[in-house]
Amino acid sequence: MFAPLSIPSRARLLVYSVLFAGTVILVKVSVPVPEGVQLGRIFFWTVITFVLAALPVRLPGGIVAHTTTAPLIAALFDTGLPNPFAVCWIAFVGTLEIRDLRRELPLWGTVYNRLDYVLSSFAAWLALRLTAQAVVPDDPLGVVAQIVIAGLAFSFVNLILAVSLASLRTSTPFGRIWSMTVSNVLTGLVALVPLGWLMAEIAVKVGLWAAFLFMIPLYLARYSFSKYAETRELFFGTVSALSQAIDAKDGFTRGHADRVSRIAGAIARHMGLPERQIEEIELAGLLHDIGKIGVEDRILMKPARLDPDETELMQRHPIYGASILEPSTSLKPLVPLVLHHHENFDGSGYPDGLKGDDIPLGSRIIIVADAYEAMTSDRIYRKAIGHERAMGQLNRYKGVQFDPQIVRALEKLVEKRGPTAFEVSDLPPINYETLAELKRRLARDPLIRDAHAG
Ligand SMILES: [Fe+2]
Repeated sequence: MFAPLSIPSRARLLVYSVLFAGTVILVKVSVPVPEGVQLGRIFFWTVITFVLAALPVRLPGGIVAHTTTAPLIAALFDTGLPNPFAVCWIAFVGTLEIRDLRRELPLWGTVYNRLDYVLSSFAAWLALRLTAQAVVPDDPLGVVAQIVIAGLAFSFVNLILAVSLASLRTSTPFGRIWSMTVSNVLTGLVALVPLGWLMAEIAVKVGLWAAFLFMIPLYLARYSFSKYAETRELFFGTVSALSQAIDAKDGFTRGHADRVSRIAGAIARHMGLPERQIEEIELAGLLHDIGKIGVEDRILMKPARLDPDETELMQRHPIYGASILEPSTSLKPLVPLVLHHHENFDGSGYPDGLKGDDIPLGSRIIIVADAYEAMTSDRIYRKAIGHERAMGQLNRYKGVQFDPQIVRALEKLVEKRGPTAFEVSDLPPINYETLAELKRRLARDPLIRDAHAG
């Protein structure tokens, strides 16, 4: 059954609109069926589209990319096809993916994606038709203008519909998905448009068979998308592993850095910062204490108060952190944020004693998130003090340790989301014990020597 209930309520309006508009267009272009339809030619482009759709690349933010733009643009420019009838049906049938055939998506998702391609192809056809009068045939500039117009119309509708649904489905802001996914592969996607036009030219002037040769550059284009996705995954995986390593060494509850990162990111978003900066703050939140790797365990794990020498050594961790991140091109932008995450608003912090707005905004956000997280989660040595008291402390020290506008932003945010908003960690469970726990356990039940051990 086509269960409306399985469509997330946030996305219903968008999904129903696309289903309605897409169906109307499919029916409109098919009634009456154009005369002299060459089914073989439609079949050819459908197969090429289908083969390329079978090689999807999963990009961050819930977006799936493939190189089907090229054959769809080719079908649009193929003068042997009765358009818009042909291109709309090629888009509808040819873009079916393996995951659709395996029913990995709900039916509405499968139909939505197909109709996204129908609407994109129809928009491109409409754009071509509306501008056809103004373009002189066979004039090279006119041809380029038509490729640009068709490409823009296709990509605009296609990406807006795909990103909007991903945004509503995952409750991720549109701008975030756009900046972390689309903006990085946009050049690759746009490059498929002229390639599609060239495929059509070759198919018309040389023959359909020659268009097959384009599968090679299209496969290479797909390879570059997949490399981008892999590199990004590797990068975030590494950063996350590093941050968990610090939590483990520090004796913090697992997920401390992860929660600091999420709280800092939520504050940054609440303050209306651009998505790129939010991502930087989140990464810096994950790695803010990375410099503790350079602090001796006897100081880091000391159950009693640190003496002045030990305090001085401990207070070097932001500097160590900055120097660990410095050599990496991707992590370099985080250096100032990590270096200054213990600067107090009144200038009494370390390492540089920066004051007020001289402290990077990201560092001012991280120090608030760090303090709030530490106060609201249980530690081995003490219980959480709860949201109310934690906010009380933050308010008490605003203007001294914390930037008042950031404390206010956090307060508003928690009012909106509730104090449990940051409790659940998204991290996969990893069973490790902190050094302190391990020492206690070994003291209690020493390891039994392995029979093979020398
Ligand atoms: Fe720190």
